[in-house]
Amino acid sequence: MALLIKNGAVVTAEKTFTADILVEGETIREVRAGIAPASHTVVDARGMYLLPGGIDVHTHLDMPFGGTTSSDDFETGTLAAAIGGTTTLVDFAIQARGTKMRAALDTWWKKAEGKACIDYGFHMIVTDLADAGLEDMDDLVREGVASFKLFMAYPNVLMVDDATIFRALRQTAKNGALICMHAENGSAIDVIVQQALAEGKTAPIYHALTRPTRAEAEAVHRSIALAEMAGAPVYIVHLSSEDALNQVREARDRGLPAFAETCPQYLLLSIEDNMPNKSFEDAKYVFTPPLREKKNQPKLWDGLKNDHLQVVSTDHCPFCFADQKQLGIHDFTKIPNGGPGVENRLQLIHHHGVNSGKLTLNRFVEIVATAPARIFGMYPKKGVLAVGSDADIVVWDSNAEHAISAKTHNMRVDYSMFEGFRVTGNARQVFSRGELIVENGKFLGNPGRGRYLRRAARGGAWQ
Ligand code: URP
Ligand code: ZN
Ligand code: ZN
Repeated sequence: MALLIKNGAVVTAEKTFTADILVEGETIREVRAGIAPASHTVVDARGMYLLPGGIDVHTHLDMPFGGTTSSDDFETGTLAAAIGGTTTLVDFAIQARGTKMRAALDTWWKKAEGKACIDYGFHMIVTDLADAGLEDMDDLVREGVASFKLFMAYPNVLMVDDATIFRALRQTAKNGALICMHAENGSAIDVIVQQALAEGKTAPIYHALTRPTRAEAEAVHRSIALAEMAGAPVYIVHLSSEDALNQVREARDRGLPAFAETCPQYLLLSIEDNMPNKSFEDAKYVFTPPLREKKNQPKLWDGLKNDHLQVVSTDHCPFCFADQKQLGIHDFTKIPNGGPGVENRLQLIHHHGVNSGKLTLNRFVEIVATAPARIFGMYPKKGVLAVGSDADIVVWDSNAEHAISAKTHNMRVDYSMFEGFRVTGNARQVFSRGELIVENGKFLGNPGRGRYLRRAARGGAWQ
């Protein structure tokens, strides 16, 4: 039976207007006021906002990292995402050195199959471009993997050299894919880290103190310069500091196709507030780039407002405090890097962005759904409430109050980075391709219902 959502306020990146949304099967068929109910399931959304389902383009589910595996798999992670109003995510598959990227894609397809609760795509983390690597990239683009991540950090693990980055960028200038950069100068950081360890500085806070913002800014600058030489766009992931942001802004002012995301943790948490005692509890906030000084936060919010930053993703990469973060109890370099957040992104950005007047509701929709869809080849199938788009719809109650806590969250991790945060605004109902999958914080769908999303490279069309 068709679905009719009546009297909600439809929010797009441009405007907000009262309308009804008619859904047939998995697709939006009409968006206009005054659609007469016939043989429809009718949802009354009076007083509610209707948002396009959130899109989180940066998650690490079931990912081997730092001697362990991220604690959410594709079932628990996507279920938590859905409850928070995210209906699509793009996760990272990792090419093992010396192997073909396709093998990694097959592995990640298997991880998601039968488990995913929402639709998902993959980026490929490139660790090795020797031999047939460049053709491998083209092969993956044909499979809908329209973006690749390269690391300038984590020497001897994921880091690649500038030649590899430049070759990959040049390939994407031809095949239309997008390079995502983890931009930190890993070699310089490693020298600082080794010195800290030699001085007996092993507590988690030294993870943050050994990764200066200049190391991030330098790598952002270098990424953009390499992309400019290659004639390719570039997307900086998890940008954390004013210093790095200045590099992106300068490039965009020159008209370069440089894009960047930040994450709720950089907007809302800081060294001063969250790592005040230099205790092992700080391991909960060990991720990379690290937490920064509080003075960076207003600069990042301004960056979002003024389109120097285009996206808020989560970099959801959870490790339990009790048995995973403890791996680094004697040495901060052994703490698995990453933190949880996929469930709370919309709540946090709505509350601290829209309610506090830093962002309009339309800009909020743009940075959590529309821009990620556009940048990563999903628009207009995803990221907008328009005729012909997938019926991924969040019925958003802007007055609903919610307290974030590990006691009640759905992510499979034993702490919350945002423990005790109180937010106003939450998803009341979530539809994914027309199916009601969440109501009042409860998941109603079946794991495995989520589908692999073939994303289009620039200039490509939906298949
Ligand atoms: O600490 C982080 N961010 N862990 C996930 C891997 C990455 O660099 O995104
Ligand atoms: Zn990264
Ligand atoms: Zn990440």
